[in-house]
Amino acid sequence: MKGEKNIFLTDQSGLSKNTNKILSKNIPYKFFYWGPLLCVLKLKPSDLKKCAKFCSKKSSFVNETLAGNIKNEHYVSTYEYYKIMNPYLEAFRHSFKQWYGGHLTKPIRVVKAWVNFMVEGEYNPPHIHINCDFSSVLFVKIPENLKKENKKFLGTGGGPGSISFTYGEVQPYSLSARDIFPEEGDLFIFPATLTHFVAPFMSKEERISVSANFKFE
Ligand SMILES: [Fe+2]
Repeated sequence: MKGEKNIFLTDQSGLSKNTNKILSKNIPYKFFYWGPLLCVLKLKPSDLKKCAKFCSKKSSFVNETLAGNIKNEHYVSTYEYYKIMNPYLEAFRHSFKQWYGGHLTKPIRVVKAWVNFMVEGEYNPPHIHINCDFSSVLFVKIPENLKKENKKFLGTGGGPGSISFTYGEVQPYSLSARDIFPEEGDLFIFPATLTHFVAPFMSKEERISVSANFKFE
């Protein structure tokens, strides 16, 4: 059509040459959110410190209920965890409303929380969480050597120590996976049945994360 022939020509930045013209015409647009909500909240350093304190190898093992090939996975107190997480779970309600278009009015109960001390060669295969509505993972410690190892990674995907989420079919023009190398203080919250996995690494230090399951009731 006349006047539209240049719309799909792109400059070196990858933006349409006509982007500015389109914006100047103030054409409104919006996205239709769909698929699973995957949000990440940032913990305050003081709250992250509190979480690090209750990460201990002295509490009982949770391994037999989990998918991970990780030697040290231990329960943490749901009460202690909830005390720190409460304001973040309220922030999560806002993202829930934005994504699904409806309020999450029910209380959010922490049904289980545990800490993963992951070392070289360990991994978490693709899995989901059961008997809950949403799940989360908080990254408490990402060792410097692991950060360097991940930076050097040249392949596809998130690389050593990354977390990946997959959803639906692989289709052109559809995002079916997210591969993320997390930062300390990142709290990912997602539907419990969203498949996720963690890639192994070779660095000699511990990567520490706290996982939790939530029920809306
Ligand atoms: Fe998991």
